[in-house]
Amino acid sequence: MSSLSRRQLLFGLAATPVLLSLGCSRTAVAQRSTRPLPIPPLAEGMLGSDGVRTFTLKAMTGETEMLPGVRTTTWGFNGPVLGPTLRARRGERVAVRVENALDEPTTVHWHGMHVPARCDGGPHQTVPVGGHWQPRWMIDQPAATLWYHPHPHGATEKHVYRGLAGMFLIDDEIATGLPQDYGVDDIPLVIQDRRFTASGALDEADPTDVGLLGGTIVTNGIVGAHLTVGTQRTRLRMLNGSGGRLYNLGFADGRTFHIVAGDGGLLAEPVPATRIQLSPGERAEIVLTCEPGESAVLQSFPIENRAGLESEEADRFGVDDTFVILEVHAEQNLRPGGTPPAALATLPPLPDVDAAVKRDFELQWFMINRQRMDMNRIDFHAVVDTDEIWTVRNVDNWPHNFHVHDTQFRIVDIDGAPPPPHLAGFKDTVYTPPGQRIRLAVRFSDYTDPVWPYMYHCHLALHEDQGMMGQFLVLNPGQQPGGAPAMDAMTGHAMR
Ligand code: C2O
Ligand code: CU
Ligand code: CU
Repeated sequence: MSSLSRRQLLFGLAATPVLLSLGCSRTAVAQRSTRPLPIPPLAEGMLGSDGVRTFTLKAMTGETEMLPGVRTTTWGFNGPVLGPTLRARRGERVAVRVENALDEPTTVHWHGMHVPARCDGGPHQTVPVGGHWQPRWMIDQPAATLWYHPHPHGATEKHVYRGLAGMFLIDDEIATGLPQDYGVDDIPLVIQDRRFTASGALDEADPTDVGLLGGTIVTNGIVGAHLTVGTQRTRLRMLNGSGGRLYNLGFADGRTFHIVAGDGGLLAEPVPATRIQLSPGERAEIVLTCEPGESAVLQSFPIENRAGLESEEADRFGVDDTFVILEVHAEQNLRPGGTPPAALATLPPLPDVDAAVKRDFELQWFMINRQRMDMNRIDFHAVVDTDEIWTVRNVDNWPHNFHVHDTQFRIVDIDGAPPPPHLAGFKDTVYTPPGQRIRLAVRFSDYTDPVWPYMYHCHLALHEDQGMMGQFLVLNPGQQPGGAPAMDAMTGHAMR
């Protein structure tokens, strides 16, 4: 709110009873002491003479005022909580020097990134205490909102819960007409749930069957965030960075917004919506339109259809909860947003299902296809540049989702029906309610490796930690796998 409008409000307060009540509710908002939304800084990166831009991420411990006035011990990259936003253009060559100043090993995985397996940052690319790891690759995928987070075997939930996560934005040359001024009208939102002990520490006791569920929402690392916008249109890049909670995001006044991108990039065209559901690890970009001087409150609402769960599970997993995620206040003078684009991206046609390689994945308890993760077991080999159709079934009564490394897939159908338009673009993570059958068109290109595997897993972090994960190699036609990598990877010298 500008100081002018604040004065007008105070002036009006004394003037009429109608404005008095408005004034009171505004005052109540202020007394709840909302704080400005922290915007993770853009990582600078060092451009080397070889044309490679090198970023540095140092995992460390610190203290954060997640709750106002309360110091909470947290973990972050290059700071006390979360991490800088990495941003790179398609075609650019990047490297990230990951340093580990924690007192336990970790990894950093580039979620959604098309990247060589040895650079993927999964459980095989451990960064030892005091050590470092420096993967490098070329950015080769469409513009998208990706993210990075630790992926240490069996400890992913804890590392992310304590604060290790950040955004990785991919740009490309195509002009979209979407807001793109980072931190001004193009805003990253890392949405997470937390539980605090009486002394203000992060509470890691008593996980549910979907992991640590918190009744307090932190957005970009703080509780009670507000954002003042000076433009008519604002792009919100929303990440469900929680371990086990589903969100059903929309605005308190029920207004329509436009979904413009999913996990892996832009949709064919903006999709008008009043709600969007995100399961852990999923992203969506939306465009919010504001009138001068108004407020819009981004909330999470009860999940549609109780997330497909039976009532006992729905109760236990908090699917009926409602939260405020972010209060958006528009200034009195808004820069016009221009014409919203009618078309965004050209999505390739889906492959021929009958001609594709088929694989089946059954999700149940902490298992995929009745097995838990074994670092020394490769579950299958995929041949590079080959269309595959993966049929994923949740045969459980728990919620699960399904994430695949290295690639962006397309949803062919959900229980036989084509996906709704906002799920029809490129994705890397999809919610799989109990009983549902989802078919995915999957393809791996470029990077073959007979040793280092990629992961596929449920992205409910506790489930992943408990072994709801498998590993696959991408090979050339006729190529043989080259033996288990697990042991030498544990030394941290995973780059070969
Ligand atoms: Cu976001 Cu295998 O992870
Ligand atoms: Cu991933
Ligand atoms: Cu799961």
